[in-house]
Amino acid sequence: MKNSKIFALLLASMLSSSINAQNTITNNGKTFIDLNKNGKLDLWEDTRLSVDKRIDAIIKQMTNEEKASLLIGIGMPGFTENFQTVGNSVKNKVPGAAGGTFALERFGIPSVIVADGPAGLRINATRENDNKTYYATAFPVGTSLASTWNTDLIKQVGKAMGNEVKEYGVDVLLAPALNIHRNPLCGRNFEYYSEDPLISGKIAAAYVNGIQENGVGTSIKHFAANNQETNRLTIDEQISERAMREIYLKNFEIAVKESQPWTVMSSYNKINGVYTSASKDLLTTILRDEWGYKGLVMTDWFGGFEGFEAIMKKQSSDVVAQMNAGNDLLMPGLSIQKKELVDALNSGKLSQEIANKNVKRILELAFKSPVFKDYKYSNQPNLTQNSQVARNAASEGMVLLKNDNNALPFSSKNEVVSLFGVTSYDFITGGTGSGSVNNKHTVSLLEGLNNADFKIDQELTNLYVPFAEKEALAEKERRKSQGILALPQRLPEMEMTEDFINKQAENSAIAFLTLGRNSGEGGDRVVDNDFNLGKDEIALIDKVSKAFHEKGKKVVVILNIGGVIETASWKDKVDAILLAWQPGQEGGNSVADVLAGKVNPSGKLTMTFPMKYEDTPSAKNWLGTPTENPKEVTYEEGIYVGYRYFNTFKVKPSYEFGFGKSYTDFSYSDLKLSNSTFKNNLKLTVKITNTGKVSGKEIVELYLSAPHKLVDKPNAELKAFAKTKELKPGESEIVTMELKPEDLASFVTAQSSWIAEAGTYKISIGASSLDVKQSAEFQLNKDIIVKKVQPVFKAEKEFSDLKSKN
Ligand code: BGC
Repeated sequence: MKNSKIFALLLASMLSSSINAQNTITNNGKTFIDLNKNGKLDLWEDTRLSVDKRIDAIIKQMTNEEKASLLIGIGMPGFTENFQTVGNSVKNKVPGAAGGTFALERFGIPSVIVADGPAGLRINATRENDNKTYYATAFPVGTSLASTWNTDLIKQVGKAMGNEVKEYGVDVLLAPALNIHRNPLCGRNFEYYSEDPLISGKIAAAYVNGIQENGVGTSIKHFAANNQETNRLTIDEQISERAMREIYLKNFEIAVKESQPWTVMSSYNKINGVYTSASKDLLTTILRDEWGYKGLVMTDWFGGFEGFEAIMKKQSSDVVAQMNAGNDLLMPGLSIQKKELVDALNSGKLSQEIANKNVKRILELAFKSPVFKDYKYSNQPNLTQNSQVARNAASEGMVLLKNDNNALPFSSKNEVVSLFGVTSYDFITGGTGSGSVNNKHTVSLLEGLNNADFKIDQELTNLYVPFAEKEALAEKERRKSQGILALPQRLPEMEMTEDFINKQAENSAIAFLTLGRNSGEGGDRVVDNDFNLGKDEIALIDKVSKAFHEKGKKVVVILNIGGVIETASWKDKVDAILLAWQPGQEGGNSVADVLAGKVNPSGKLTMTFPMKYEDTPSAKNWLGTPTENPKEVTYEEGIYVGYRYFNTFKVKPSYEFGFGKSYTDFSYSDLKLSNSTFKNNLKLTVKITNTGKVSGKEIVELYLSAPHKLVDKPNAELKAFAKTKELKPGESEIVTMELKPEDLASFVTAQSSWIAEAGTYKISIGASSLDVKQSAEFQLNKDIIVKKVQPVFKAEKEFSDLKSKN
C-alpha cells in the first residue's frame, strides 16, 4: 500500500468523530479525510501537517510491541535468529547490506537500509538468480584519505560514494569511522584518520557533507574510543575526562557540528565501567545537550552484549540503560532484546516518554530517507566516474617519505624497471572486515606501470606473477575457511639468489620494491613480522639495495599499507620511499601517476612513524590487563597521544606527524596576524611560494603553544591547516587561517570548563609538526571561560594522566 493511503487511513480513523462529509473522499470503498480539499490522497505532501506532527500522530497509535520492534533492527542475514519477517524485504532488496530498521507497514513506514562502510559501499556484488552485477567502487582507505589534508577533495569522494549508496537503494552508509589512532597496532587504524582530533574531525565532516548531499545518510562511528579490536565487545577503558574531551571526542564534536550526520554509531567498548551504548553522559549530556546533535544513535552490531558468549546464551544487552542513555536503535536487533523491551514497556521500567523519544528519532530518519520518498534507484551508479575520483584521491593521499637525489619521479620510458615484492603483483586495495568493498577489479602495481608505459623486466615478472597468484589463492582459501572476520596475513616474499638479483641490477635502471600489510576488523596487529618487517622482507631490501647500489642504481620502496610500520632500521638502505597506503581499486594507476611525476605527491602524515614501536606512549599498557585476556585498559598517557607526546617529551620519531615531501620546494614568508592581542578571534595570513621546478600543492599547518599555568599542556597542538591550490613554479598563494576562542582552550577538569588561559601564545606555521617555517606571538589579556559543562565520565578507579615536565 502506498504511504499516502496508509497515513490517510490512520488519520481518518483518528479523527473519525469529526469527519465532515464535505471533507472526505472515497477510494476503493474506503473513506479518507481530504486534508488538501483537492479530492486527492496526497496527505504526505500536505505542508500544513509537519513531519513532526505526522510522527507524533503515528507514535500515539503505536502499541508497545510495535515500539519494541522499531527500537531494534531487523537482524543481520545469516547472523541473527530473528531476522524479522517484515525485514526480509531488506535482504531481498540489497543483499549484503548490514541491516535495517523495522517496517511499520500499517503506518506506511518502510525499512531504512544501512550498509557499510568507510572505503565505499559494501554490498554483495552478485545476487541469486540475477545475472546483473552490483559492484561498488573501492575508494582509498581512511588513512589515505586523511593524508590528503584536502577537505574539498574528500567532499568529492563522499559525493561519489553517496551516489553509489543512493543508486543501489541504500539509505544510510555506515561511515565514516574516525576513532583516534591511539596505538599503531590497532587493527582498524586503516579505516580511521589520525592520531589528531582536528584533522580527523575535519576530514570526517567533509566526507559526511559529500555523502549527505545525495540525500542519503551517514553514521559516524564508533562513538567513542574504539581504539583496539582485542576483546572489543567487553573491554573497559579507564580514561580521564580531559583525555576524552580533548582527544577522543573532539573529532566527533567537529564532525557533528560541521556536518550534522544523520546517525551516530555508539562503540562496543566501555568507558570507566559503562558501555558507550548505555552512557547517558556520552549520548545525551555531551552529544545532544552540549553539541546540539539532533539525529539518531544506533549501537554497533551487538553493542552492549557481554561478549559472544552472552549472545550465544541469548542474554540480552541492558536495553533499558541503552534506551535511557539515548541509544535509540539497537543493531542488528535480537529477539531477546525485543522481548526485554516489550516487558520493560509493559512494566513501566522503561518509560513511554523515553521510548517515544527514541522511536521518534527512528521515524525522523525514516521520513527523510530515499526509501520513504519511494526513490527509484537505478542500480547503476556512476562507476566509471567514481573510479576516477578514487584514482585522484589515492594519488593525492600518497606521502613521499624520502627522495634522496631526486630518485623520483622516474619518467624514463625507455629504461627498464625491476619490480620486486610480491605485493607489487597482488596489490592491497583496502583492509578486511566491514571496511572492505566488493569491487570488480583492483589495478595492481604491475598493471598500473604497464598502463603508464613503464618498461618492466619480463624475466622477473614471469617469476613473480605465478608466485603471487599461488600465494594469494592460498591466503584467500585460508580466510574463506575461517569466516568473515578471519584476519589477513601478508604474503611471503619470493626467494631469489643474489646472482639473479645482481643480473637484474645489471639489466635494469631502477628497482621498485613494494612492501604490503593488511589488517582488519576483529583483531589487532602485532609487533613482530607486522609492525616490524619480516626476515624475508629485510633480506629482500638488503639484497636488492646492495646489488643496485653497487651498480650505481636507485631503489624505491612503495609502502602498500593501512597503518604505521617500522621504517627507521631500513630507510637508509633505499633512495626513495613512497607511502601509497591502501589506495583502493585504482591503486596501481595512482602509484604509477606519482612514480612517473604525472602527479606531484602532496600528502602528509596524519600520524607519527616512531623509531621503534616501544616509543609509542600507549605501548606500556596497550591492550590492557590481564595480558592473556584483557578486561581493562588504562589510558595513562592521557592527552599525550601521537605527536603531542613525541614532540613534548622530545622523543625523536622516524617520520613526524605532518611530514611529507614533494617533487618541488616551497618557501613560507610574510606571516601576518590580524592583531597582536586576541579578542574574539584572530586571522592570520602566510605566503607560500613554489620555489622549485614543477607544479605542486603544499599543506600548511598551524600549531599553537599555549600558556600552561592552570594545566599541563603539550608543547604545541595543531589548530588549523590549509592546502594550497596547485602552484606553478614561482607562483605564490596567500593562505588564510583563523583561530577562535575554543582553539585556545584546554579542558580544566577541576573547573569542568574549557578555558583559554591568559598569557602569551605562540603560533608556529610548519611544513610538519617539527619543521617550523614561520612563527609569531599574540597575547590574551584575560582568561576566557569558553564553555562550562557538566562533569561526566566519573572515574571508576583512580589514576593520573601522564604529565610533561615542562
Ligand atoms: C563494525 C561496524 C560495522 C558493523 C556492521 C561491526 O562489526 O564494528 O563498523 O558498521 O559491524 O557491519
